[in-house]
Amino acid sequence: MSLAHVLEHHRVIVTVGSGGVGKTTTAAALAMHAAMQGRRTVCLTIDPARRLANSLGLDAMTTDEQDVSKEIFASFGLEPKGSLSAMMLDTKRTFDDLVARNASSDEARDRILHNRIYQYVSKSLAGTQEYMAMEKLYAVRKDPKWDTIVLDTPPTSNALDFLDAPERLVDAIDSQAMRWFIQAFEGAGRLSFGLLGKGAQLVAKALAKFTGGEFLEQVAEFVTGLNDLFGGFKERAAEVSAALRSPDVAFIVVTSPDPMAIHEAVVFSDRLEGAGMRRDGVVINAVRTLIAEPSATDAEVEAAARAALPPEIDAKDAVERMWRALDHERTQAIAHRIEADRLRMRIGEGTTFVEVPALETDVHDLGGLAQIARYLMTDADLQHREAARALAAEREPNAATGAAAGAGRGPQEGA
Ligand SMILES: Nc1ncnc2c1ncn2[C@@H]1O[C@H](COP(=O)(O)OP(=O)(O)OP(=O)(O)O)[C@@H](O)[C@H]1O
Ligand SMILES: [Mg+2]
Repeated sequence: MSLAHVLEHHRVIVTVGSGGVGKTTTAAALAMHAAMQGRRTVCLTIDPARRLANSLGLDAMTTDEQDVSKEIFASFGLEPKGSLSAMMLDTKRTFDDLVARNASSDEARDRILHNRIYQYVSKSLAGTQEYMAMEKLYAVRKDPKWDTIVLDTPPTSNALDFLDAPERLVDAIDSQAMRWFIQAFEGAGRLSFGLLGKGAQLVAKALAKFTGGEFLEQVAEFVTGLNDLFGGFKERAAEVSAALRSPDVAFIVVTSPDPMAIHEAVVFSDRLEGAGMRRDGVVINAVRTLIAEPSATDAEVEAAARAALPPEIDAKDAVERMWRALDHERTQAIAHRIEADRLRMRIGEGTTFVEVPALETDVHDLGGLAQIARYLMTDADLQHREAARALAAEREPNAATGAAAGAGRGPQEGA
């Protein structure tokens, strides 16, 4: 199995994972590949990073969809059979749309949109961004003009947040609405928000006498406004939540080979499964490849270095350093191999695993994305067999055929 197969058989691809592991890069590369294959593709991201815009050949990410032109593709020698657009999610705008859709009247809509607490909450409350990413996905999914939709999820401190975001939003607005606020305004203090239950507006008005409470008025108005929207919200959240579990949505867990990230990927993957969501692929990104040790002896390498380097450079010292650097790289590569295999064993059959090596530079243009895409599309089993063979050759150099690794230095030297 390969990710190409996953892309072919799903309309929506969601990349998930902990911070900084390469979710955005993976999402963009997958979207680009889909476009190359002839799909009308949109890549949704919440990442305003200029780097991402640049890699797609755009000046900046915007909340309106932008097309990546054929000329930009052509400048990298690429000829897409389909099309690629990119769109940045705007949490507040998505929330505003949701309010507008669900408000019982124009007045009710305006009351909440102009409410100062709403304006704060819709931009800054923890969890809002995650929900709105799902909400936007839901809306875009209904648009028949896209064959493939790739969603890059937010870099949350807790990568699992968005999974139950729809349910959490409902809980938050439900009878517990006040607790939601208390969280938001913790430290603002002096009031017992617990008092603001059903007759919120009345209570707030009563309290306002003592607190000079324009603020409280706003709170009351917000709560009333949300109650007005609640039925619509609840239904919508249930639909969004169900949509995440539909068979045309594939989740790709992205992780780095770092032990902490691997641990999170395992937890995350279990959580996806537990929540009844698909877990179609795992991308282990930025893996160091195992460089075989040169088969030349120390003396040969030193002689070659002496011949190549200017006389003022101490060749022996340079070679020493080179060995140290190589050892470090190799140690890391072996550690990565072990971590990757640990993840593979833990998650087991039925999921496509793909490894993407750490490239020499950041991914900053379509060429870089194309390179990432090539690795992503490699046959996963083949890739695994090759990595396993390289490691076996490392452990038992004499038993492995066709591998030069370990032939030069180390215990076998001169054997
Ligand atoms: N395989 C790779 N080789 C080299 N650089 C990479 C690779 N994958 C990603 N990068 C670089 O690593 C950085 C982080 O990647 P990216 O922005 O995709 O991570 P992310 O998971 O989206 O982060 P965040 O959680 O902050 O949104 C970027 O500068 C990107 O170009
Ligand atoms: Mg990102």
